[in-house]
Amino acid sequence: MSPSFNDDVLGLIFFKAGLQDPNAKLQLWSEDDNDPCNWEGVKCDPITYRVNELHLNGLSISGHVGRGLLRLQFLKVLDLSGNALYGSIPDEFFSQCGSLKSVSFARNNLSGQIPESLSSCWGLEEFNLSYNQIKGQLPSGIWFLRSLQSIDVYGNLLEGDVLQGIGNLYDLRHINLGNNRFSGRLPQDIGSCSLLKFVDFSENYFSGTLPDSMRKLVSCTCLSLRGNSLQGQPPGWIGELVGLESLDLSANQFYGRIPFSLGNLQSLKELNLSKNRFIGKVPSWMFSVSFAQVLQVLDLSSNALYGEIPSKLGVLSSLMFFNVSRNRFFGFVPTTIGELKAIKVVDLSDNMLNGSIPSEIGGAVSLEVLMLQRNFLSGKIPTQIVNCSSLITLSLSENNLSGSIPTTFPNLSNLEYVDLSSNDLTGSLPKELANLSQLMFFNISHNHLHGELPLGGFFNTIPTSSVSGNPSLCGSVVNRSCPAVHPKPIVLNPNSSDSISGSSRNHHRKKIVLSISTLIAIGAAAFIVVGVIAITLLNIHVRSMSRAGAALMLSGAEDFSCSPNNDPKYGKLVMFAGDADFVAGANALLNKDCELGHGGLGVVYRTILRDGRAIAIKKLAVSSLIKSQLEFERELRTLGKIRHHNLVALEGYYWTPSLQLVIYEFVPSGNLYRHLHDRPGSCLSWQQRFNIILGMAKGLAYLHQMNIIHYNLKSSNILIDSYGEAKVADYSLARLLPTLDRCVLSSRIQSALGYMAPEFACKTMKITEKCDVYGFGVLVLEVITGKRPVEYMDDDVVVLTDMVRGALGDGRVEECVDGRLGNNFPEEEAILVIKLGLICASQVPSNRPDMGAVVNILKLIQCPSDGDGNGKEEVVD
Ligand SMILES: *[C@@H]1O[C@H](CO)[C@@H](O)[C@H](O)[C@H]1NC(C)=O
Ligand SMILES: *[C@@H]1O[C@H](CO)[C@@H](O)[C@H](O)[C@H]1NC(C)=O
Ligand SMILES: *[C@@H]1O[C@H](CO)[C@@H](O)[C@H](O)[C@H]1NC(C)=O
Ligand SMILES: *[C@@H]1O[C@H](CO)[C@@H](O)[C@H](O)[C@H]1NC(C)=O
Ligand SMILES: *[C@@H]1O[C@H](CO)[C@@H](O)[C@H](O)[C@H]1NC(C)=O
Repeated sequence: MSPSFNDDVLGLIFFKAGLQDPNAKLQLWSEDDNDPCNWEGVKCDPITYRVNELHLNGLSISGHVGRGLLRLQFLKVLDLSGNALYGSIPDEFFSQCGSLKSVSFARNNLSGQIPESLSSCWGLEEFNLSYNQIKGQLPSGIWFLRSLQSIDVYGNLLEGDVLQGIGNLYDLRHINLGNNRFSGRLPQDIGSCSLLKFVDFSENYFSGTLPDSMRKLVSCTCLSLRGNSLQGQPPGWIGELVGLESLDLSANQFYGRIPFSLGNLQSLKELNLSKNRFIGKVPSWMFSVSFAQVLQVLDLSSNALYGEIPSKLGVLSSLMFFNVSRNRFFGFVPTTIGELKAIKVVDLSDNMLNGSIPSEIGGAVSLEVLMLQRNFLSGKIPTQIVNCSSLITLSLSENNLSGSIPTTFPNLSNLEYVDLSSNDLTGSLPKELANLSQLMFFNISHNHLHGELPLGGFFNTIPTSSVSGNPSLCGSVVNRSCPAVHPKPIVLNPNSSDSISGSSRNHHRKKIVLSISTLIAIGAAAFIVVGVIAITLLNIHVRSMSRAGAALMLSGAEDFSCSPNNDPKYGKLVMFAGDADFVAGANALLNKDCELGHGGLGVVYRTILRDGRAIAIKKLAVSSLIKSQLEFERELRTLGKIRHHNLVALEGYYWTPSLQLVIYEFVPSGNLYRHLHDRPGSCLSWQQRFNIILGMAKGLAYLHQMNIIHYNLKSSNILIDSYGEAKVADYSLARLLPTLDRCVLSSRIQSALGYMAPEFACKTMKITEKCDVYGFGVLVLEVITGKRPVEYMDDDVVVLTDMVRGALGDGRVEECVDGRLGNNFPEEEAILVIKLGLICASQVPSNRPDMGAVVNILKLIQCPSDGDGNGKEEVVD
């Protein structure tokens, strides 16, 4: 045994003595064994039997790096990486390292400085000190180690300038100085290392511009300068580094436009320009097929880029990560996003994108992270998102998204993080959301969601701030108890019971109907005395209704306590124009606060369309009598075509067998009844009254021209718009009934007490449009006198037409004009209008003029030189 051989044994034993070896990996290393070549981790030269390689990586050994290894004079490879060595490497450690080619202390806890003696390892090809806590500067001597091919000191506490000298290392292929505290400029002579493939200077304090010599690094495949303070416009020659597969300039202070020459980098798999100050549009080459074949990561986030996200996005067929958040992109989310079959992460947040989330998103089947928060996106969350079955993170907060959460949402079983907060979402939450077992964050705050929070799973511990700001949500988390029985959806479920058709109510109605037909017959014959009996019977009931603000309305109000869901599959909604999306949701239909009023044919509610327009919805209370769906729809389509200034426009309808809604334009200023009888202290002027009469006449004339009979005229059916124009409402409804049967008409339109033409009570007489003329005549008298068609005194009843007719006979008809007008009306004109009203309200239908003639007469009566012009403008038909 040669003495030098003994040296190897001694050196190894000596080295082992300074270590803790918790896993006893080195237990066979023994001074009694003179042949170290079989020892764990030891390799010997096959000829000299000298130890030339020591591989002790990942053995969990700890302790100081002892001097023992100094004795291994023929050591070529020393790998101590991935252990728990601590303390500093002794300075003389490398003093006899003439044969050392590769040394690694990576991933230990070493501190202290890099020994100067490293510079004497003239044969050294690689050294790796990465992931330790080594301080101080790089020994300047290392730049003379001409065999060096790889330097890795990533993740230490090294500092100072990287001085000139690196250019001596012609053989250098790999340099990683990342994640230290180096400062100053990047080494200017780096370009001489023409074999360099991997350059990582990231996360240091390097400043200044890119050294020009870098353009010679044509073999470079990976260049990372991330997280420094580099500045300037990236030079065009970057496009000459055609071998680049990864270019990371992120988090610096580069500015200007993205260099055009980057388009030459056709091997690029990863391009990260984020967190700089780049401006301008995204260059089109980025979305050319030749560039895009292999690109996997594209990060342009946090710059000042603007314009639309190019629709050619779809050509990036290998793209897995796409981040353009925090820029100024506007326009739509490209539909081609669905062509990105490999995409896992899409982040378009914090831009100014509008439009809706394209349903094509369902094509991005690998998607795991979708971030669209803080844009101006509207529309619904596409149900197709259920195709993205790998989705883990979904953030759509702070947009204007509406509609309900897709019922398929709970199928996205990998969801962990969902933020839908601060949108306009409506509807209720699918119960099955509670089955999302991975869920850790689910924020739906500040929307208009309603109904019960799901029970179980994550929802048992959901923070209040994740659900707050939804006034209609209930459940223990929001401290609002839900109705004991979960309400059945009324509006959209065709099978729900019709709350109107209670049998006791029908019974009640029958009795009243009889009384009314009696009254009409009596009124027509002017035998008032007899009528008093019947009327007194009605008195109490009618009074109480009037006080409640409802027009003479004899059926009780309806009860709604249910919140409907928003599922469209139950019914058919047709809008003749515009959007059919109710902002307030169908629940508004059942909300007492939105109720505008009710009459014999149904209750009217107000709601808001998506475009901000208000509409009125009438829920028909005559389901059982309505015609077949086919006829119903045909009628409504006909009526939908009617457009006249003085007619309330029909906007659409909703059909289910048990429920029909008719949708009207909303007229803001209330009905004529309110203006005349329900607003103490305010009074319509003569001109306003005349204009209302003329408007009603024009509206009715148009209806009759279209062969439509209204059947249901009364002052609560005349709406007044904000310009004081009359608009005739409810003209459609009688047509929806199966037969224009007198009984049906009078039972359903019973509220038209006093407006109903006498022929209704006479079974043998045909009912024509002249019945509307009668109603119109009564309305004229009502408008001029300010009195109801039938006024109830304490123990008397006054029928308006008779009262006025009597006054005319006595030659004191001007006394009938509304006292609130004082003398502020043209007497002659008033008398003419009253006479016209009386003629229209003639007992015999053939004595009544038709509405076209009425309009002409009114125009003649109207004296342009007379008034103040207020409300007198000619209405253009
Ligand atoms: C996208 O970039 C922004 C800003 O650079 C960053 O905050 C965000 O985390 C990135 N998104 C993803 C999904 O990585
Ligand atoms: C969603 O997936 C279904 C079935 O896998 C497919 O037919 C459909 O086209 C996909 N939708 C989209 C928008 O890609
Ligand atoms: C959602 O999941 C349910 C139950 O697991 C399944 O029946 C349904 O087909 C799924 N829907 C879609 C669109 O994947
Ligand atoms: C949910 O979002 C709202 C609004 O963005 C926010 O105020 C709240 O803190 C969020 N809740 C949680 C638990 O993060
Ligand atoms: C309505 O009732 C019918 C018959 O009872 C039933 O087949 C149908 O599924 C029900 N529809 C809904 C939406 O409940």
